[in-house]
Amino acid sequence: MDFQRLIAAKRDGKRLRPQDWRWIAEAASEGLVPDYQLTALLMAVYLRGMDFSETYALTEAVAGSGERLSWPGVDRPLVDKHSTGGVGDKLSLVVVPLLAACGAAVPKLSGRGLGHTGGTLDKLQAIPGYRAELSPEELRRILTRTGCFIAGHTRRIAPADAVLYHLRDVTATVDSIPLVAASIVGKKLAAGAETFVIDVKTGRGALFASQPKALRLARLIKRASEKAGKTCVCVVSEMGAPLGRKVGNALEVEEALAVLAGEDVPEVRELSLELAAQGLKAAGIAPGITAARTMSRKGLDDGSAREVFEQMISAQGGDLDAFAKRKRGTPVSAELKAPRDGWLRRLDALVVGRAARLAGAGRTLADDEIDPEAGVEIIAKPGSRITTGDPILVVHASEEDELRAAMKELRGGITIGDEPPGPRPLIRRILS
Ligand code: URA
Repeated sequence: MDFQRLIAAKRDGKRLRPQDWRWIAEAASEGLVPDYQLTALLMAVYLRGMDFSETYALTEAVAGSGERLSWPGVDRPLVDKHSTGGVGDKLSLVVVPLLAACGAAVPKLSGRGLGHTGGTLDKLQAIPGYRAELSPEELRRILTRTGCFIAGHTRRIAPADAVLYHLRDVTATVDSIPLVAASIVGKKLAAGAETFVIDVKTGRGALFASQPKALRLARLIKRASEKAGKTCVCVVSEMGAPLGRKVGNALEVEEALAVLAGEDVPEVRELSLELAAQGLKAAGIAPGITAARTMSRKGLDDGSAREVFEQMISAQGGDLDAFAKRKRGTPVSAELKAPRDGWLRRLDALVVGRAARLAGAGRTLADDEIDPEAGVEIIAKPGSRITTGDPILVVHASEEDELRAAMKELRGGITIGDEPPGPRPLIRRILS
């Protein structure tokens, strides 16, 4: 196959055939073409787009680039949950065990954070002993026993996506609607669930800040999933400000544990309950959305989701007692204080995400070390009345330089005004 011909065709706005996409996925996963040719193709796709038949062909090619997991012997409805990525987005830690507590089996494969968004695996790895790399036999045993797992993508599952996503991340080609849809749905198909609940974020901290674009992405994800014979519900949710009050790996595990223990953490509880309810309804576990909402509230409030979370973590080698007793905090911290009286009108998720990464909670390069305790705590949420000198944020960092860089970044992320901000609904649309 002449790869240059494929690049030229896409550059000129032509449509590639399904066999071309299969070859591209194979070439990516097996290292058959150099990165510069793959990235030229990705940029051509970014600029020229793909129609639905191409998007679906790439989706199938990504799913088929490695093993497709299947779960014979698991007799519960198989549901998977994915987010397009956000700041303070610890919802999988709540939604996965909650779905399992309500009768679903949830085989969840997750990634690490890159860019300003956090990754579920990095959060879980703040728990001493937690193992993300599990063999297919271990995954099956844990899924049968506890009803869910959250494990890392291995090189054997959707390997083409690992290569393409990494290249996109460093070549300014992440925010392409068809590439994101193929990446997400391709991975979900490989993981073997029947029902997908996809949280498509919109707002400053999301891949697609504009709501119409986020909605187009949601529609495309749903269409590709349904063409593959799956049930898919997309929830388009607000990501203008960080979710909850904690951003950073150990900080977010603490907050997820608080929600699992019944605390009403702003946005986190509400959105987790709705995502779980949508999944329960779509999978036919609940007969309608009202029953599904009752079921998900009960699963959270009666402690069963927390119990499943504890079982899942322990089955994956994690020690929650050691997590609770760990030495908290980082060598250096500082407060960002209100420079004037007024209403906190804006707390920019993108800026907070970048600051958390600068503080040591995320990576700039794929193999950077992260500090599990680093991050940003949100003392005042948008809509709070504040007076001069009140702390708005607390930053925890590993080193003075990182702290300074994070604090500098954060100064541009807040707006204080004389009027309270208007309401911002957490859920913008549900495509069920
Ligand atoms: N999440 C994914 O899994 N893939 C993308 O392309 C973007 C977000």
